[in-house]
Amino acid sequence: MKIIVAGTGFVGITHAAVCSEYGHEVYAYDVDGEKLAAYESKQRERIHHYVNETGLPEIIAENAGRYLFFVNDLVPVIEGVEAIFLCLPTPPKTNGSSDLSYYFKALGDLAPLLAGRKDQRRVLLINKSTVPVGTARQLGKFLDERGVRNFGIASNPEFLPEGDAVEKSRRPDRIVVGADTEEDFSICRRIYSQFVNHVRIHYIETTPETAETIKYVSNTLLLTYISFWNGVGARIGETFPNVRMEDMKRGVTSDGRISTWGSYVSNGAGGSCFGKDIRSLIYQLKNHGQRADLLESVYGINEYQKSYLVDRAVSEAGFSFNQKTVALLGLAFKKKTNDMRDASSLKVAEALLAKGVREIRAYDPMAIAEAKRYFDPGQNHLFERISYHGSVAEALQGCECVFISTDWEEFRGLSRAVEQHLRPGGLILDGRRMIPDYGYLVKAGFHYIAVGSPHLGPA
Ligand SMILES: NC(=O)c1ccc[n+]([C@@H]2O[C@H](COP(=O)([O-])OP(=O)(O)OC[C@H]3O[C@@H](n4cnc5c(N)ncnc54)[C@H](O)[C@@H]3O)[C@@H](O)[C@H]2O)c1
Repeated sequence: MKIIVAGTGFVGITHAAVCSEYGHEVYAYDVDGEKLAAYESKQRERIHHYVNETGLPEIIAENAGRYLFFVNDLVPVIEGVEAIFLCLPTPPKTNGSSDLSYYFKALGDLAPLLAGRKDQRRVLLINKSTVPVGTARQLGKFLDERGVRNFGIASNPEFLPEGDAVEKSRRPDRIVVGADTEEDFSICRRIYSQFVNHVRIHYIETTPETAETIKYVSNTLLLTYISFWNGVGARIGETFPNVRMEDMKRGVTSDGRISTWGSYVSNGAGGSCFGKDIRSLIYQLKNHGQRADLLESVYGINEYQKSYLVDRAVSEAGFSFNQKTVALLGLAFKKKTNDMRDASSLKVAEALLAKGVREIRAYDPMAIAEAKRYFDPGQNHLFERISYHGSVAEALQGCECVFISTDWEEFRGLSRAVEQHLRPGGLILDGRRMIPDYGYLVKAGFHYIAVGSPHLGPA
């Protein structure tokens, strides 16, 4: 099938690449020419600079020029197209509602091309972006008013987790398609033919509105579960003596009805979707006169969690950050990605700078280039106090405190590096419970505060 994928960010390029693997003729379209040139170069580093996903450069290298084409002009490719996937940004506005301006800008550009097609075969616009409930229908009206004929609209939300995008795109848990007509469902079935009768993958056909809600309910439920462990589990572990979080987790999740996924405590969940989607759903419900108390609490718990260890350092260990040097280990919002959107590290750095630290010595195996964009001294002169380092040991040099913010595997063996490089009597703030042998460090004279445990210090 001839397919256009509009928007080649994380969602779009992964989807375009995997669709091309199945032999569709895919035109990946973006307004960002540099990004397209990077994909077209087939060079791993250049591709990873934009989307750091295992396996993506290989699929692009294999299929570019055969089944996968990069275009920044749709005029030459619009004839004969059967499906157009919309993978466009829908960032939050300050009031939490979704900003659909990128989305409607792209559609405004597409409309005259679709209206002017010589070949007026049915074309299906398939929405993969996360958009407020009712947007698919709004989109239909928008195109209809601009003279586009013989088109359908489908909602096909994307559930990819960053870090495992290619794998999950090849083997998703489910494909959800919301459409209005049999003709439109059948276009999607042809696109996703390898999944339609799959024994393990749920292929769900429903209304466009239901498909839109499935995305919001999924993401907010996941964040609710994470926030339950943070807002209840962590508080219990920090309050009552002798509570072991890891045993609590195993005991609770031995019940088959309770998920093991997300049953950990941490300094909050970041990424481009959780915060944005929960805020959007809160806005949508309240905009219709509904209450959204649970969602508001979940959002609040998650935001609080991101940097609250900085306050615990002061209240429980009597630590003063003023003029101190602090190592910040982990900048990406989670391991295996360089993505820093809504990362907890952003709030940690902000909290540390507000407390007057002299220097933040940052290390992350993948996200340093990205971090430099976020911590731009041109935007905030305090960011001049952040320096970047090539290893844990280097970041720890001369520090009185270390904050572990991302769950990179290499941080699990930190005890030795801390003992060797953190100043004697220094403070470890463990946002990810990465140091199982913390008792050893406490004996060696360090202070240790982890999410879910009380402050431990030398006797
Ligand atoms: N990132 C995730 O983990 C994830 C997962 C599931 C769903 N989503 C949703 O998918 C959507 C896209 O997310 P993303 O992370 O891929 O975003 P992104 O910002 O990484 O990519 C969006 C791309 O769209 C391009 N673009 C902007 N305006 C355009 C236009 N007029 N025409 C063509 N291209 C244009 C941008 O240049 C960019 O390359 C969002 O709604 C997001 O909520 C994201």
